[in-house]
Amino acid sequence: MNQHVNLPPGLQFPEDIVFTGYAAPVRIEGEVHDLEVIGRIPPELEGIYIRNSADHAYPPLHGKDIFLNGDGMVHSVRMQNGHADLTMRYVRTRKFELERKARRALFGAYRNPFTDSPEVEGEDNNTANTSVLWHHGKLYALKESGRPYEIDPNDLTTRGQSDFGGQLTSRTFTAHPKIDPENGDCVAFAYNCEGVASDEIEVYVIDKEGQFKSTERFKAPYCSMVHDFMVSRNFIAFVICPMVCDWERVKRGEAYWHWDSHKLTHIAVIPRDQGVKAIRWYTAPRAVMQTHTFNAWDDGSRLVLDHFVTASGWLSQFPDIHDPHAHEMPPFGERWVVDLASAGSEVKIERFINHIGEMPVVDNRFSMRRTRHFWFGTNHPESWPMLPPGPKGPPFTCLGHFDEQTGKIELFYAGPDSSPEEPCFVPRSPDAEEGDGFLMTMVGRRAENRTDLVILDARNLAKGPLAVIKFPCRVHEGFHGIWVPGNALGSDRGF
Ligand SMILES: [Fe+2]
Repeated sequence: MNQHVNLPPGLQFPEDIVFTGYAAPVRIEGEVHDLEVIGRIPPELEGIYIRNSADHAYPPLHGKDIFLNGDGMVHSVRMQNGHADLTMRYVRTRKFELERKARRALFGAYRNPFTDSPEVEGEDNNTANTSVLWHHGKLYALKESGRPYEIDPNDLTTRGQSDFGGQLTSRTFTAHPKIDPENGDCVAFAYNCEGVASDEIEVYVIDKEGQFKSTERFKAPYCSMVHDFMVSRNFIAFVICPMVCDWERVKRGEAYWHWDSHKLTHIAVIPRDQGVKAIRWYTAPRAVMQTHTFNAWDDGSRLVLDHFVTASGWLSQFPDIHDPHAHEMPPFGERWVVDLASAGSEVKIERFINHIGEMPVVDNRFSMRRTRHFWFGTNHPESWPMLPPGPKGPPFTCLGHFDEQTGKIELFYAGPDSSPEEPCFVPRSPDAEEGDGFLMTMVGRRAENRTDLVILDARNLAKGPLAVIKFPCRVHEGFHGIWVPGNALGSDRGF
């Protein structure tokens, strides 16, 4: 309830689900040294957990907005000798700098330049708010609608937008690149390569020194949101889902994405040794949306895609073309098997994690081959109550661990009014067996308006936290994070 209706409008955020309560913008930058720690941070954890979030710096230009359009705010928790320090900093994107100078929002709706103020015509609207990448000794903040921003891993200050020394040809770069654990290559892609509504996709292989080994381009069947992709030892796979973008709709000022369930969901399979000239297309049995991916693996004749899939688009953010009242469906863990030997183009689907879930993670040292362990965010309403939905839908109350060898799913419940976010797996040591290590996650303490970082034994979630690192304040709910070991950062970073 707005208690200030009689006052003239000033700098004020809308009183809706995106901007109030636990989702309200935080906007605080700074450092907190020597956070409170309950329990003991495992001595093996020497390094930095870094994650990205969308935290609107200014009230939206047109009175409302979606949470995906917030400004990139990166948080890091540096752990050393059992101590933990928090840093939080906005990414100094071109958009952020222009709006900071104007002291108000200048850019309009998500990725729609036709809704921007005339004074920023032609300027880059990239918010750099989705994920972070550590590769070739550099840290980047990523958002799929623009180029990476390089960040200093020590203090999270922005070094500037990057095209990897002139090597990136696309105007965009994915927020979900994959690191090949065998040779350290970063396999990445870009969609909307030519900007708004472009159906061009580029695939990159970047070596561990940051040199592009290859750049290849292909056309998708239609322009769609390609948020994530999959890489096995021998193949790259894209799931093209009917979350479509149409230039005319964008020009009319409508949402950038719409769900079009009359279109098909396609799978592009690209042999890594031959590239896009050998691309093959397959068709899913129904129109569905891939949300995020665990991993892909192949055994020569079969390509297996393990990922979360929903029967609808992200309708809470982007409407259905055919039914504006359609409801968003929850994602489930599915295994899609592509028979590479058959002449057909169909895909076999099995629900291998029968839990609502999202934010999937594997032990990345074993990715691109068949993995045994799977972690994800989830709920279990039969045991623990759901939390009131936020702008992203119902928050997680649990993290899940599926051990495919035992067939068991084990859950960690975060407690009353508590919402874990994406888990991050950290191995106990570089040569520990698959799954032997720690799972860390930010946990929203919603009743206290505060955040914790919780550390669990990755193979024994039900045991509860090994350590809880308490923040004195709330940090905005985030998307994706990574662990950077101290020895990768080097002694000049104090490790
Ligand atoms: Fe994502």
